[in-house]
Amino acid sequence: MNNFEFANPVRIVFGKGMIARLSNLVPANKVLMVYGGGSIKRNGVYKQVKAALQGFDVYEFGGIEANPQYHTCMKAVELIKKEKIQFLLAVGGGSVIDATKFMAAASCFKGDTWDILEKGAEIKAALPLGVILTLPATGSEMNERAVISKAETRQKLNFMTPLIFPKFSILDPEVTYSLPARQVANGVVDSFIHVVEQYLTYPVNAKVQDGFAECLMRVIYEEGLKVLKHPQDYDIRANLMWAATNALNLWIGQGVPQDWSSHRMGYALTAQFGLDHAQTLAIILPAVMTYMFETKKDKLARMGATVFGFTQDSKEECARKTIEACKTFFKQMGLKTQLSECGITEKELDALTAPIDKMGWHLGEHHNIDSNVAHDILMLCL
Ligand code: NZQ
Ligand code: ZN
Repeated sequence: MNNFEFANPVRIVFGKGMIARLSNLVPANKVLMVYGGGSIKRNGVYKQVKAALQGFDVYEFGGIEANPQYHTCMKAVELIKKEKIQFLLAVGGGSVIDATKFMAAASCFKGDTWDILEKGAEIKAALPLGVILTLPATGSEMNERAVISKAETRQKLNFMTPLIFPKFSILDPEVTYSLPARQVANGVVDSFIHVVEQYLTYPVNAKVQDGFAECLMRVIYEEGLKVLKHPQDYDIRANLMWAATNALNLWIGQGVPQDWSSHRMGYALTAQFGLDHAQTLAIILPAVMTYMFETKKDKLARMGATVFGFTQDSKEECARKTIEACKTFFKQMGLKTQLSECGITEKELDALTAPIDKMGWHLGEHHNIDSNVAHDILMLCL
């Protein structure tokens, strides 16, 4: 196991009716409530939040897009500065949470705020924020990262700092009943792949991390296959919600090598063609597994045995079956697994690998994926 230092300060408030606890959790009077395109007004979450915040001075900023846009966030930053907002409350999925995290950092930042994303500029302060999660998927409710897009340059970039850990996150599984099937499936696939990208590298004998990761993958796989048929089942929703949070709250990634290459390439696919985040991953991950088979086959075989129950096969055979099992799982959730199904052809691949050159990335646990290797991997996705 590799060395690590770990702290996760996010208070989780989990369960039915927990939004009512909000007034005990928000530490300041002047609050900006941030939300997306209106789902919270249709499913009653907006009403619950307003009722819980009676007596607070509440401002609102709605209209955060899926894959939140830099310019929209900067409009909110203007409001935050003008009204001297003290606390930010994100009410939504990963996009709303990430946008709120960026606002928190950008409103205290001196200089060009795009540098936070493109140049990794140092963040010295951020406003405090809290979260009411409505879509289990990204883990953003319990981590220190955010992903922001800029449409005009077709960029999608992330940044990280402990200063944007939420102070608290309220997770009520009942608010997920209103999710459309497509977003439920996206959440299942995204959270499953978060675990894979921290688990599927090379073994370093990290028994706690591997065991937790395998448990999370099993839960997400088993409950994911049930949820679309039983959308109103509280236990399925609760298990998926808590699993998705644990999939990317830094816990399973301590002391182990990680491989975020599918995510990095996926961001380019969203930025260029507008594909949903999870959809990009469902296409790219099986190709990364196939291309990197020799370096990943030990963990692929172990994943096959512990997640999919392949116990009778040779290591090689088990590892290959695991790749097919992942693809089948993504298809069962209703996602596509090839670029051609999305109308994307070979001539478009250069645009997808360009950010790797621009940012000077060497992706993967062995840092051996440059733009040429990425191109070869994407060829397998066609
Ligand atoms: O905008 P509204 O009207 O709220 O509708 C949203 C949106 O259209 C809807 N929705 C959310 N909760 C709902 C609901 N509809 C009905 N009932 C509910 N309870 O779902 C749609 C998608 O929401 P979005 O927040 O975009 O989805 P998700 O949570 O999957 O977030 C995706 C974003 O997070 C980033 C992705 O790249 C993408 O930009 N990620 C963030 C990460 C992080 N911060 O750690 C890690 C991830 O890997 C990911 O990259
Ligand atoms: Zn993701």
